[in-house]
Amino acid sequence: MKKERISDFRYDTGPARIAWSTVGEKVKIQDIMEILKFLIPLKEKDKRYKMQLKKVEKEVKKLVETGDLTGKLTLGTKVAQLEEEVKKFLRCKYAVFLTNATAGFEIAYKFAGLKPGDEVIAPAITFIATISYPLSIGAKVVLADIDPQTLNMDPEDVARKVTKKTKVIIPVHIGGYPCNMDAIMDIARKFDIVVLEDAAHAFGSVYDGKMIGTIGHFGAFSFHEVKNITSLGEGGILVTNEEIGKDFSKARFVGFNIANPIPLWLYDVTALKWRGDYFAPGNHSATEIQAVALLSQMKRVDKIIEKRRKAAEYLNERFKNVKGIITPPLDDKKIKSTHHLYLFQVDPDKLNGDIQVVKEKMGQKGITQIPHFAPLYRFSIMKQLGYDTERIKETCPNAEEVFLHRFTHLPLYDFKKEDLKYMADSIIEIIKGVQK
Ligand SMILES: Cc1ncc(COP(=O)(O)O)c(C=O)c1O
Repeated sequence: MKKERISDFRYDTGPARIAWSTVGEKVKIQDIMEILKFLIPLKEKDKRYKMQLKKVEKEVKKLVETGDLTGKLTLGTKVAQLEEEVKKFLRCKYAVFLTNATAGFEIAYKFAGLKPGDEVIAPAITFIATISYPLSIGAKVVLADIDPQTLNMDPEDVARKVTKKTKVIIPVHIGGYPCNMDAIMDIARKFDIVVLEDAAHAFGSVYDGKMIGTIGHFGAFSFHEVKNITSLGEGGILVTNEEIGKDFSKARFVGFNIANPIPLWLYDVTALKWRGDYFAPGNHSATEIQAVALLSQMKRVDKIIEKRRKAAEYLNERFKNVKGIITPPLDDKKIKSTHHLYLFQVDPDKLNGDIQVVKEKMGQKGITQIPHFAPLYRFSIMKQLGYDTERIKETCPNAEEVFLHRFTHLPLYDFKKEDLKYMADSIIEIIKGVQK
């Protein structure tokens, strides 16, 4: 019986004595053992390790006798299943699993028809990946200032910076806290601009009853190893409710089209377009094993968010009456965050010093901070690509002020209760020490 074609690639050519699968190498028990050893490395000087490994290998061999070693490693049933689960979770029409969120941005920017000279409005504070694609093709990145309370893009500054050339606005839900999407979507509708949500931190965030990532035309999530859940280190998902989502699988893999093969061949290759001209898609496929990992982690994503929320609430409670600390807004009726990061801010006017002093003292007490989100105009790449970074800095006073004097991000997971308490106690002690 001919199996249904399920994949973009390694299409199933049906049962055959010499099958398609004979073209490449398969997974072997040796590989499984190496992966296990990587995932569970030897603790220093523990003699039991080798013995346990031998036992496990024996058991794995038995398992293979009764089961089967997997054949399909990319773009098969697990990727398809993951995409279905994600669509259900986010209540959206289309989802595609990719190597990372940056690949999702690239695909969405291409669908938006972004060309050299077009403008993209991004927040001044984010990770550089948000704007890597526009920078790479010579589109102009315009940085909007941020709301100092959330570090998210300030819609009023976005409105000021829209021009006739603005093609994409990319709001970034920093730390999982949703941007003001009502205001951003209003601007986008008014000027017919594509909104691509950088939801790298926000898989599970909610804004006014809608899942973050599904409010703009496109949304991309990251499953890099430092995110709330991960597909074994790297991974991303792009979603949309626009009908162009039907072309997502072609956009993921080189425009590969098995539904309409050319004569005498098994497939066609097509360019794609939505707004703007045709573009050539790249290859951004993630693997089946990454999909398996993410499906597994998705089962606990709600619990993870809940745990993080409680940790954030605890910190807010501890910090709320401490002079000099500004606590971040947490969940309310309209907003639910994934609490990917805890936004810790100080009011330098109430301290003898600013966040730089506090950060140094936190370091001395062994408190990790996440040094990830500096204003983008401060990185060499912007100047090297011809941006007048001093001028941009002047247009983003809030970003500059919070970066220099006010904020750091703290982790919220996976804490022992006593460690969370230690973090809060230490920070309060530090702040009291530098109070005016
Ligand atoms: C705000 C933001 N956007 C985009 C990305 C890129 O995600 P990925 O590594 O999955 O491409 C990151 C990753 O850390 C991020 O923090």
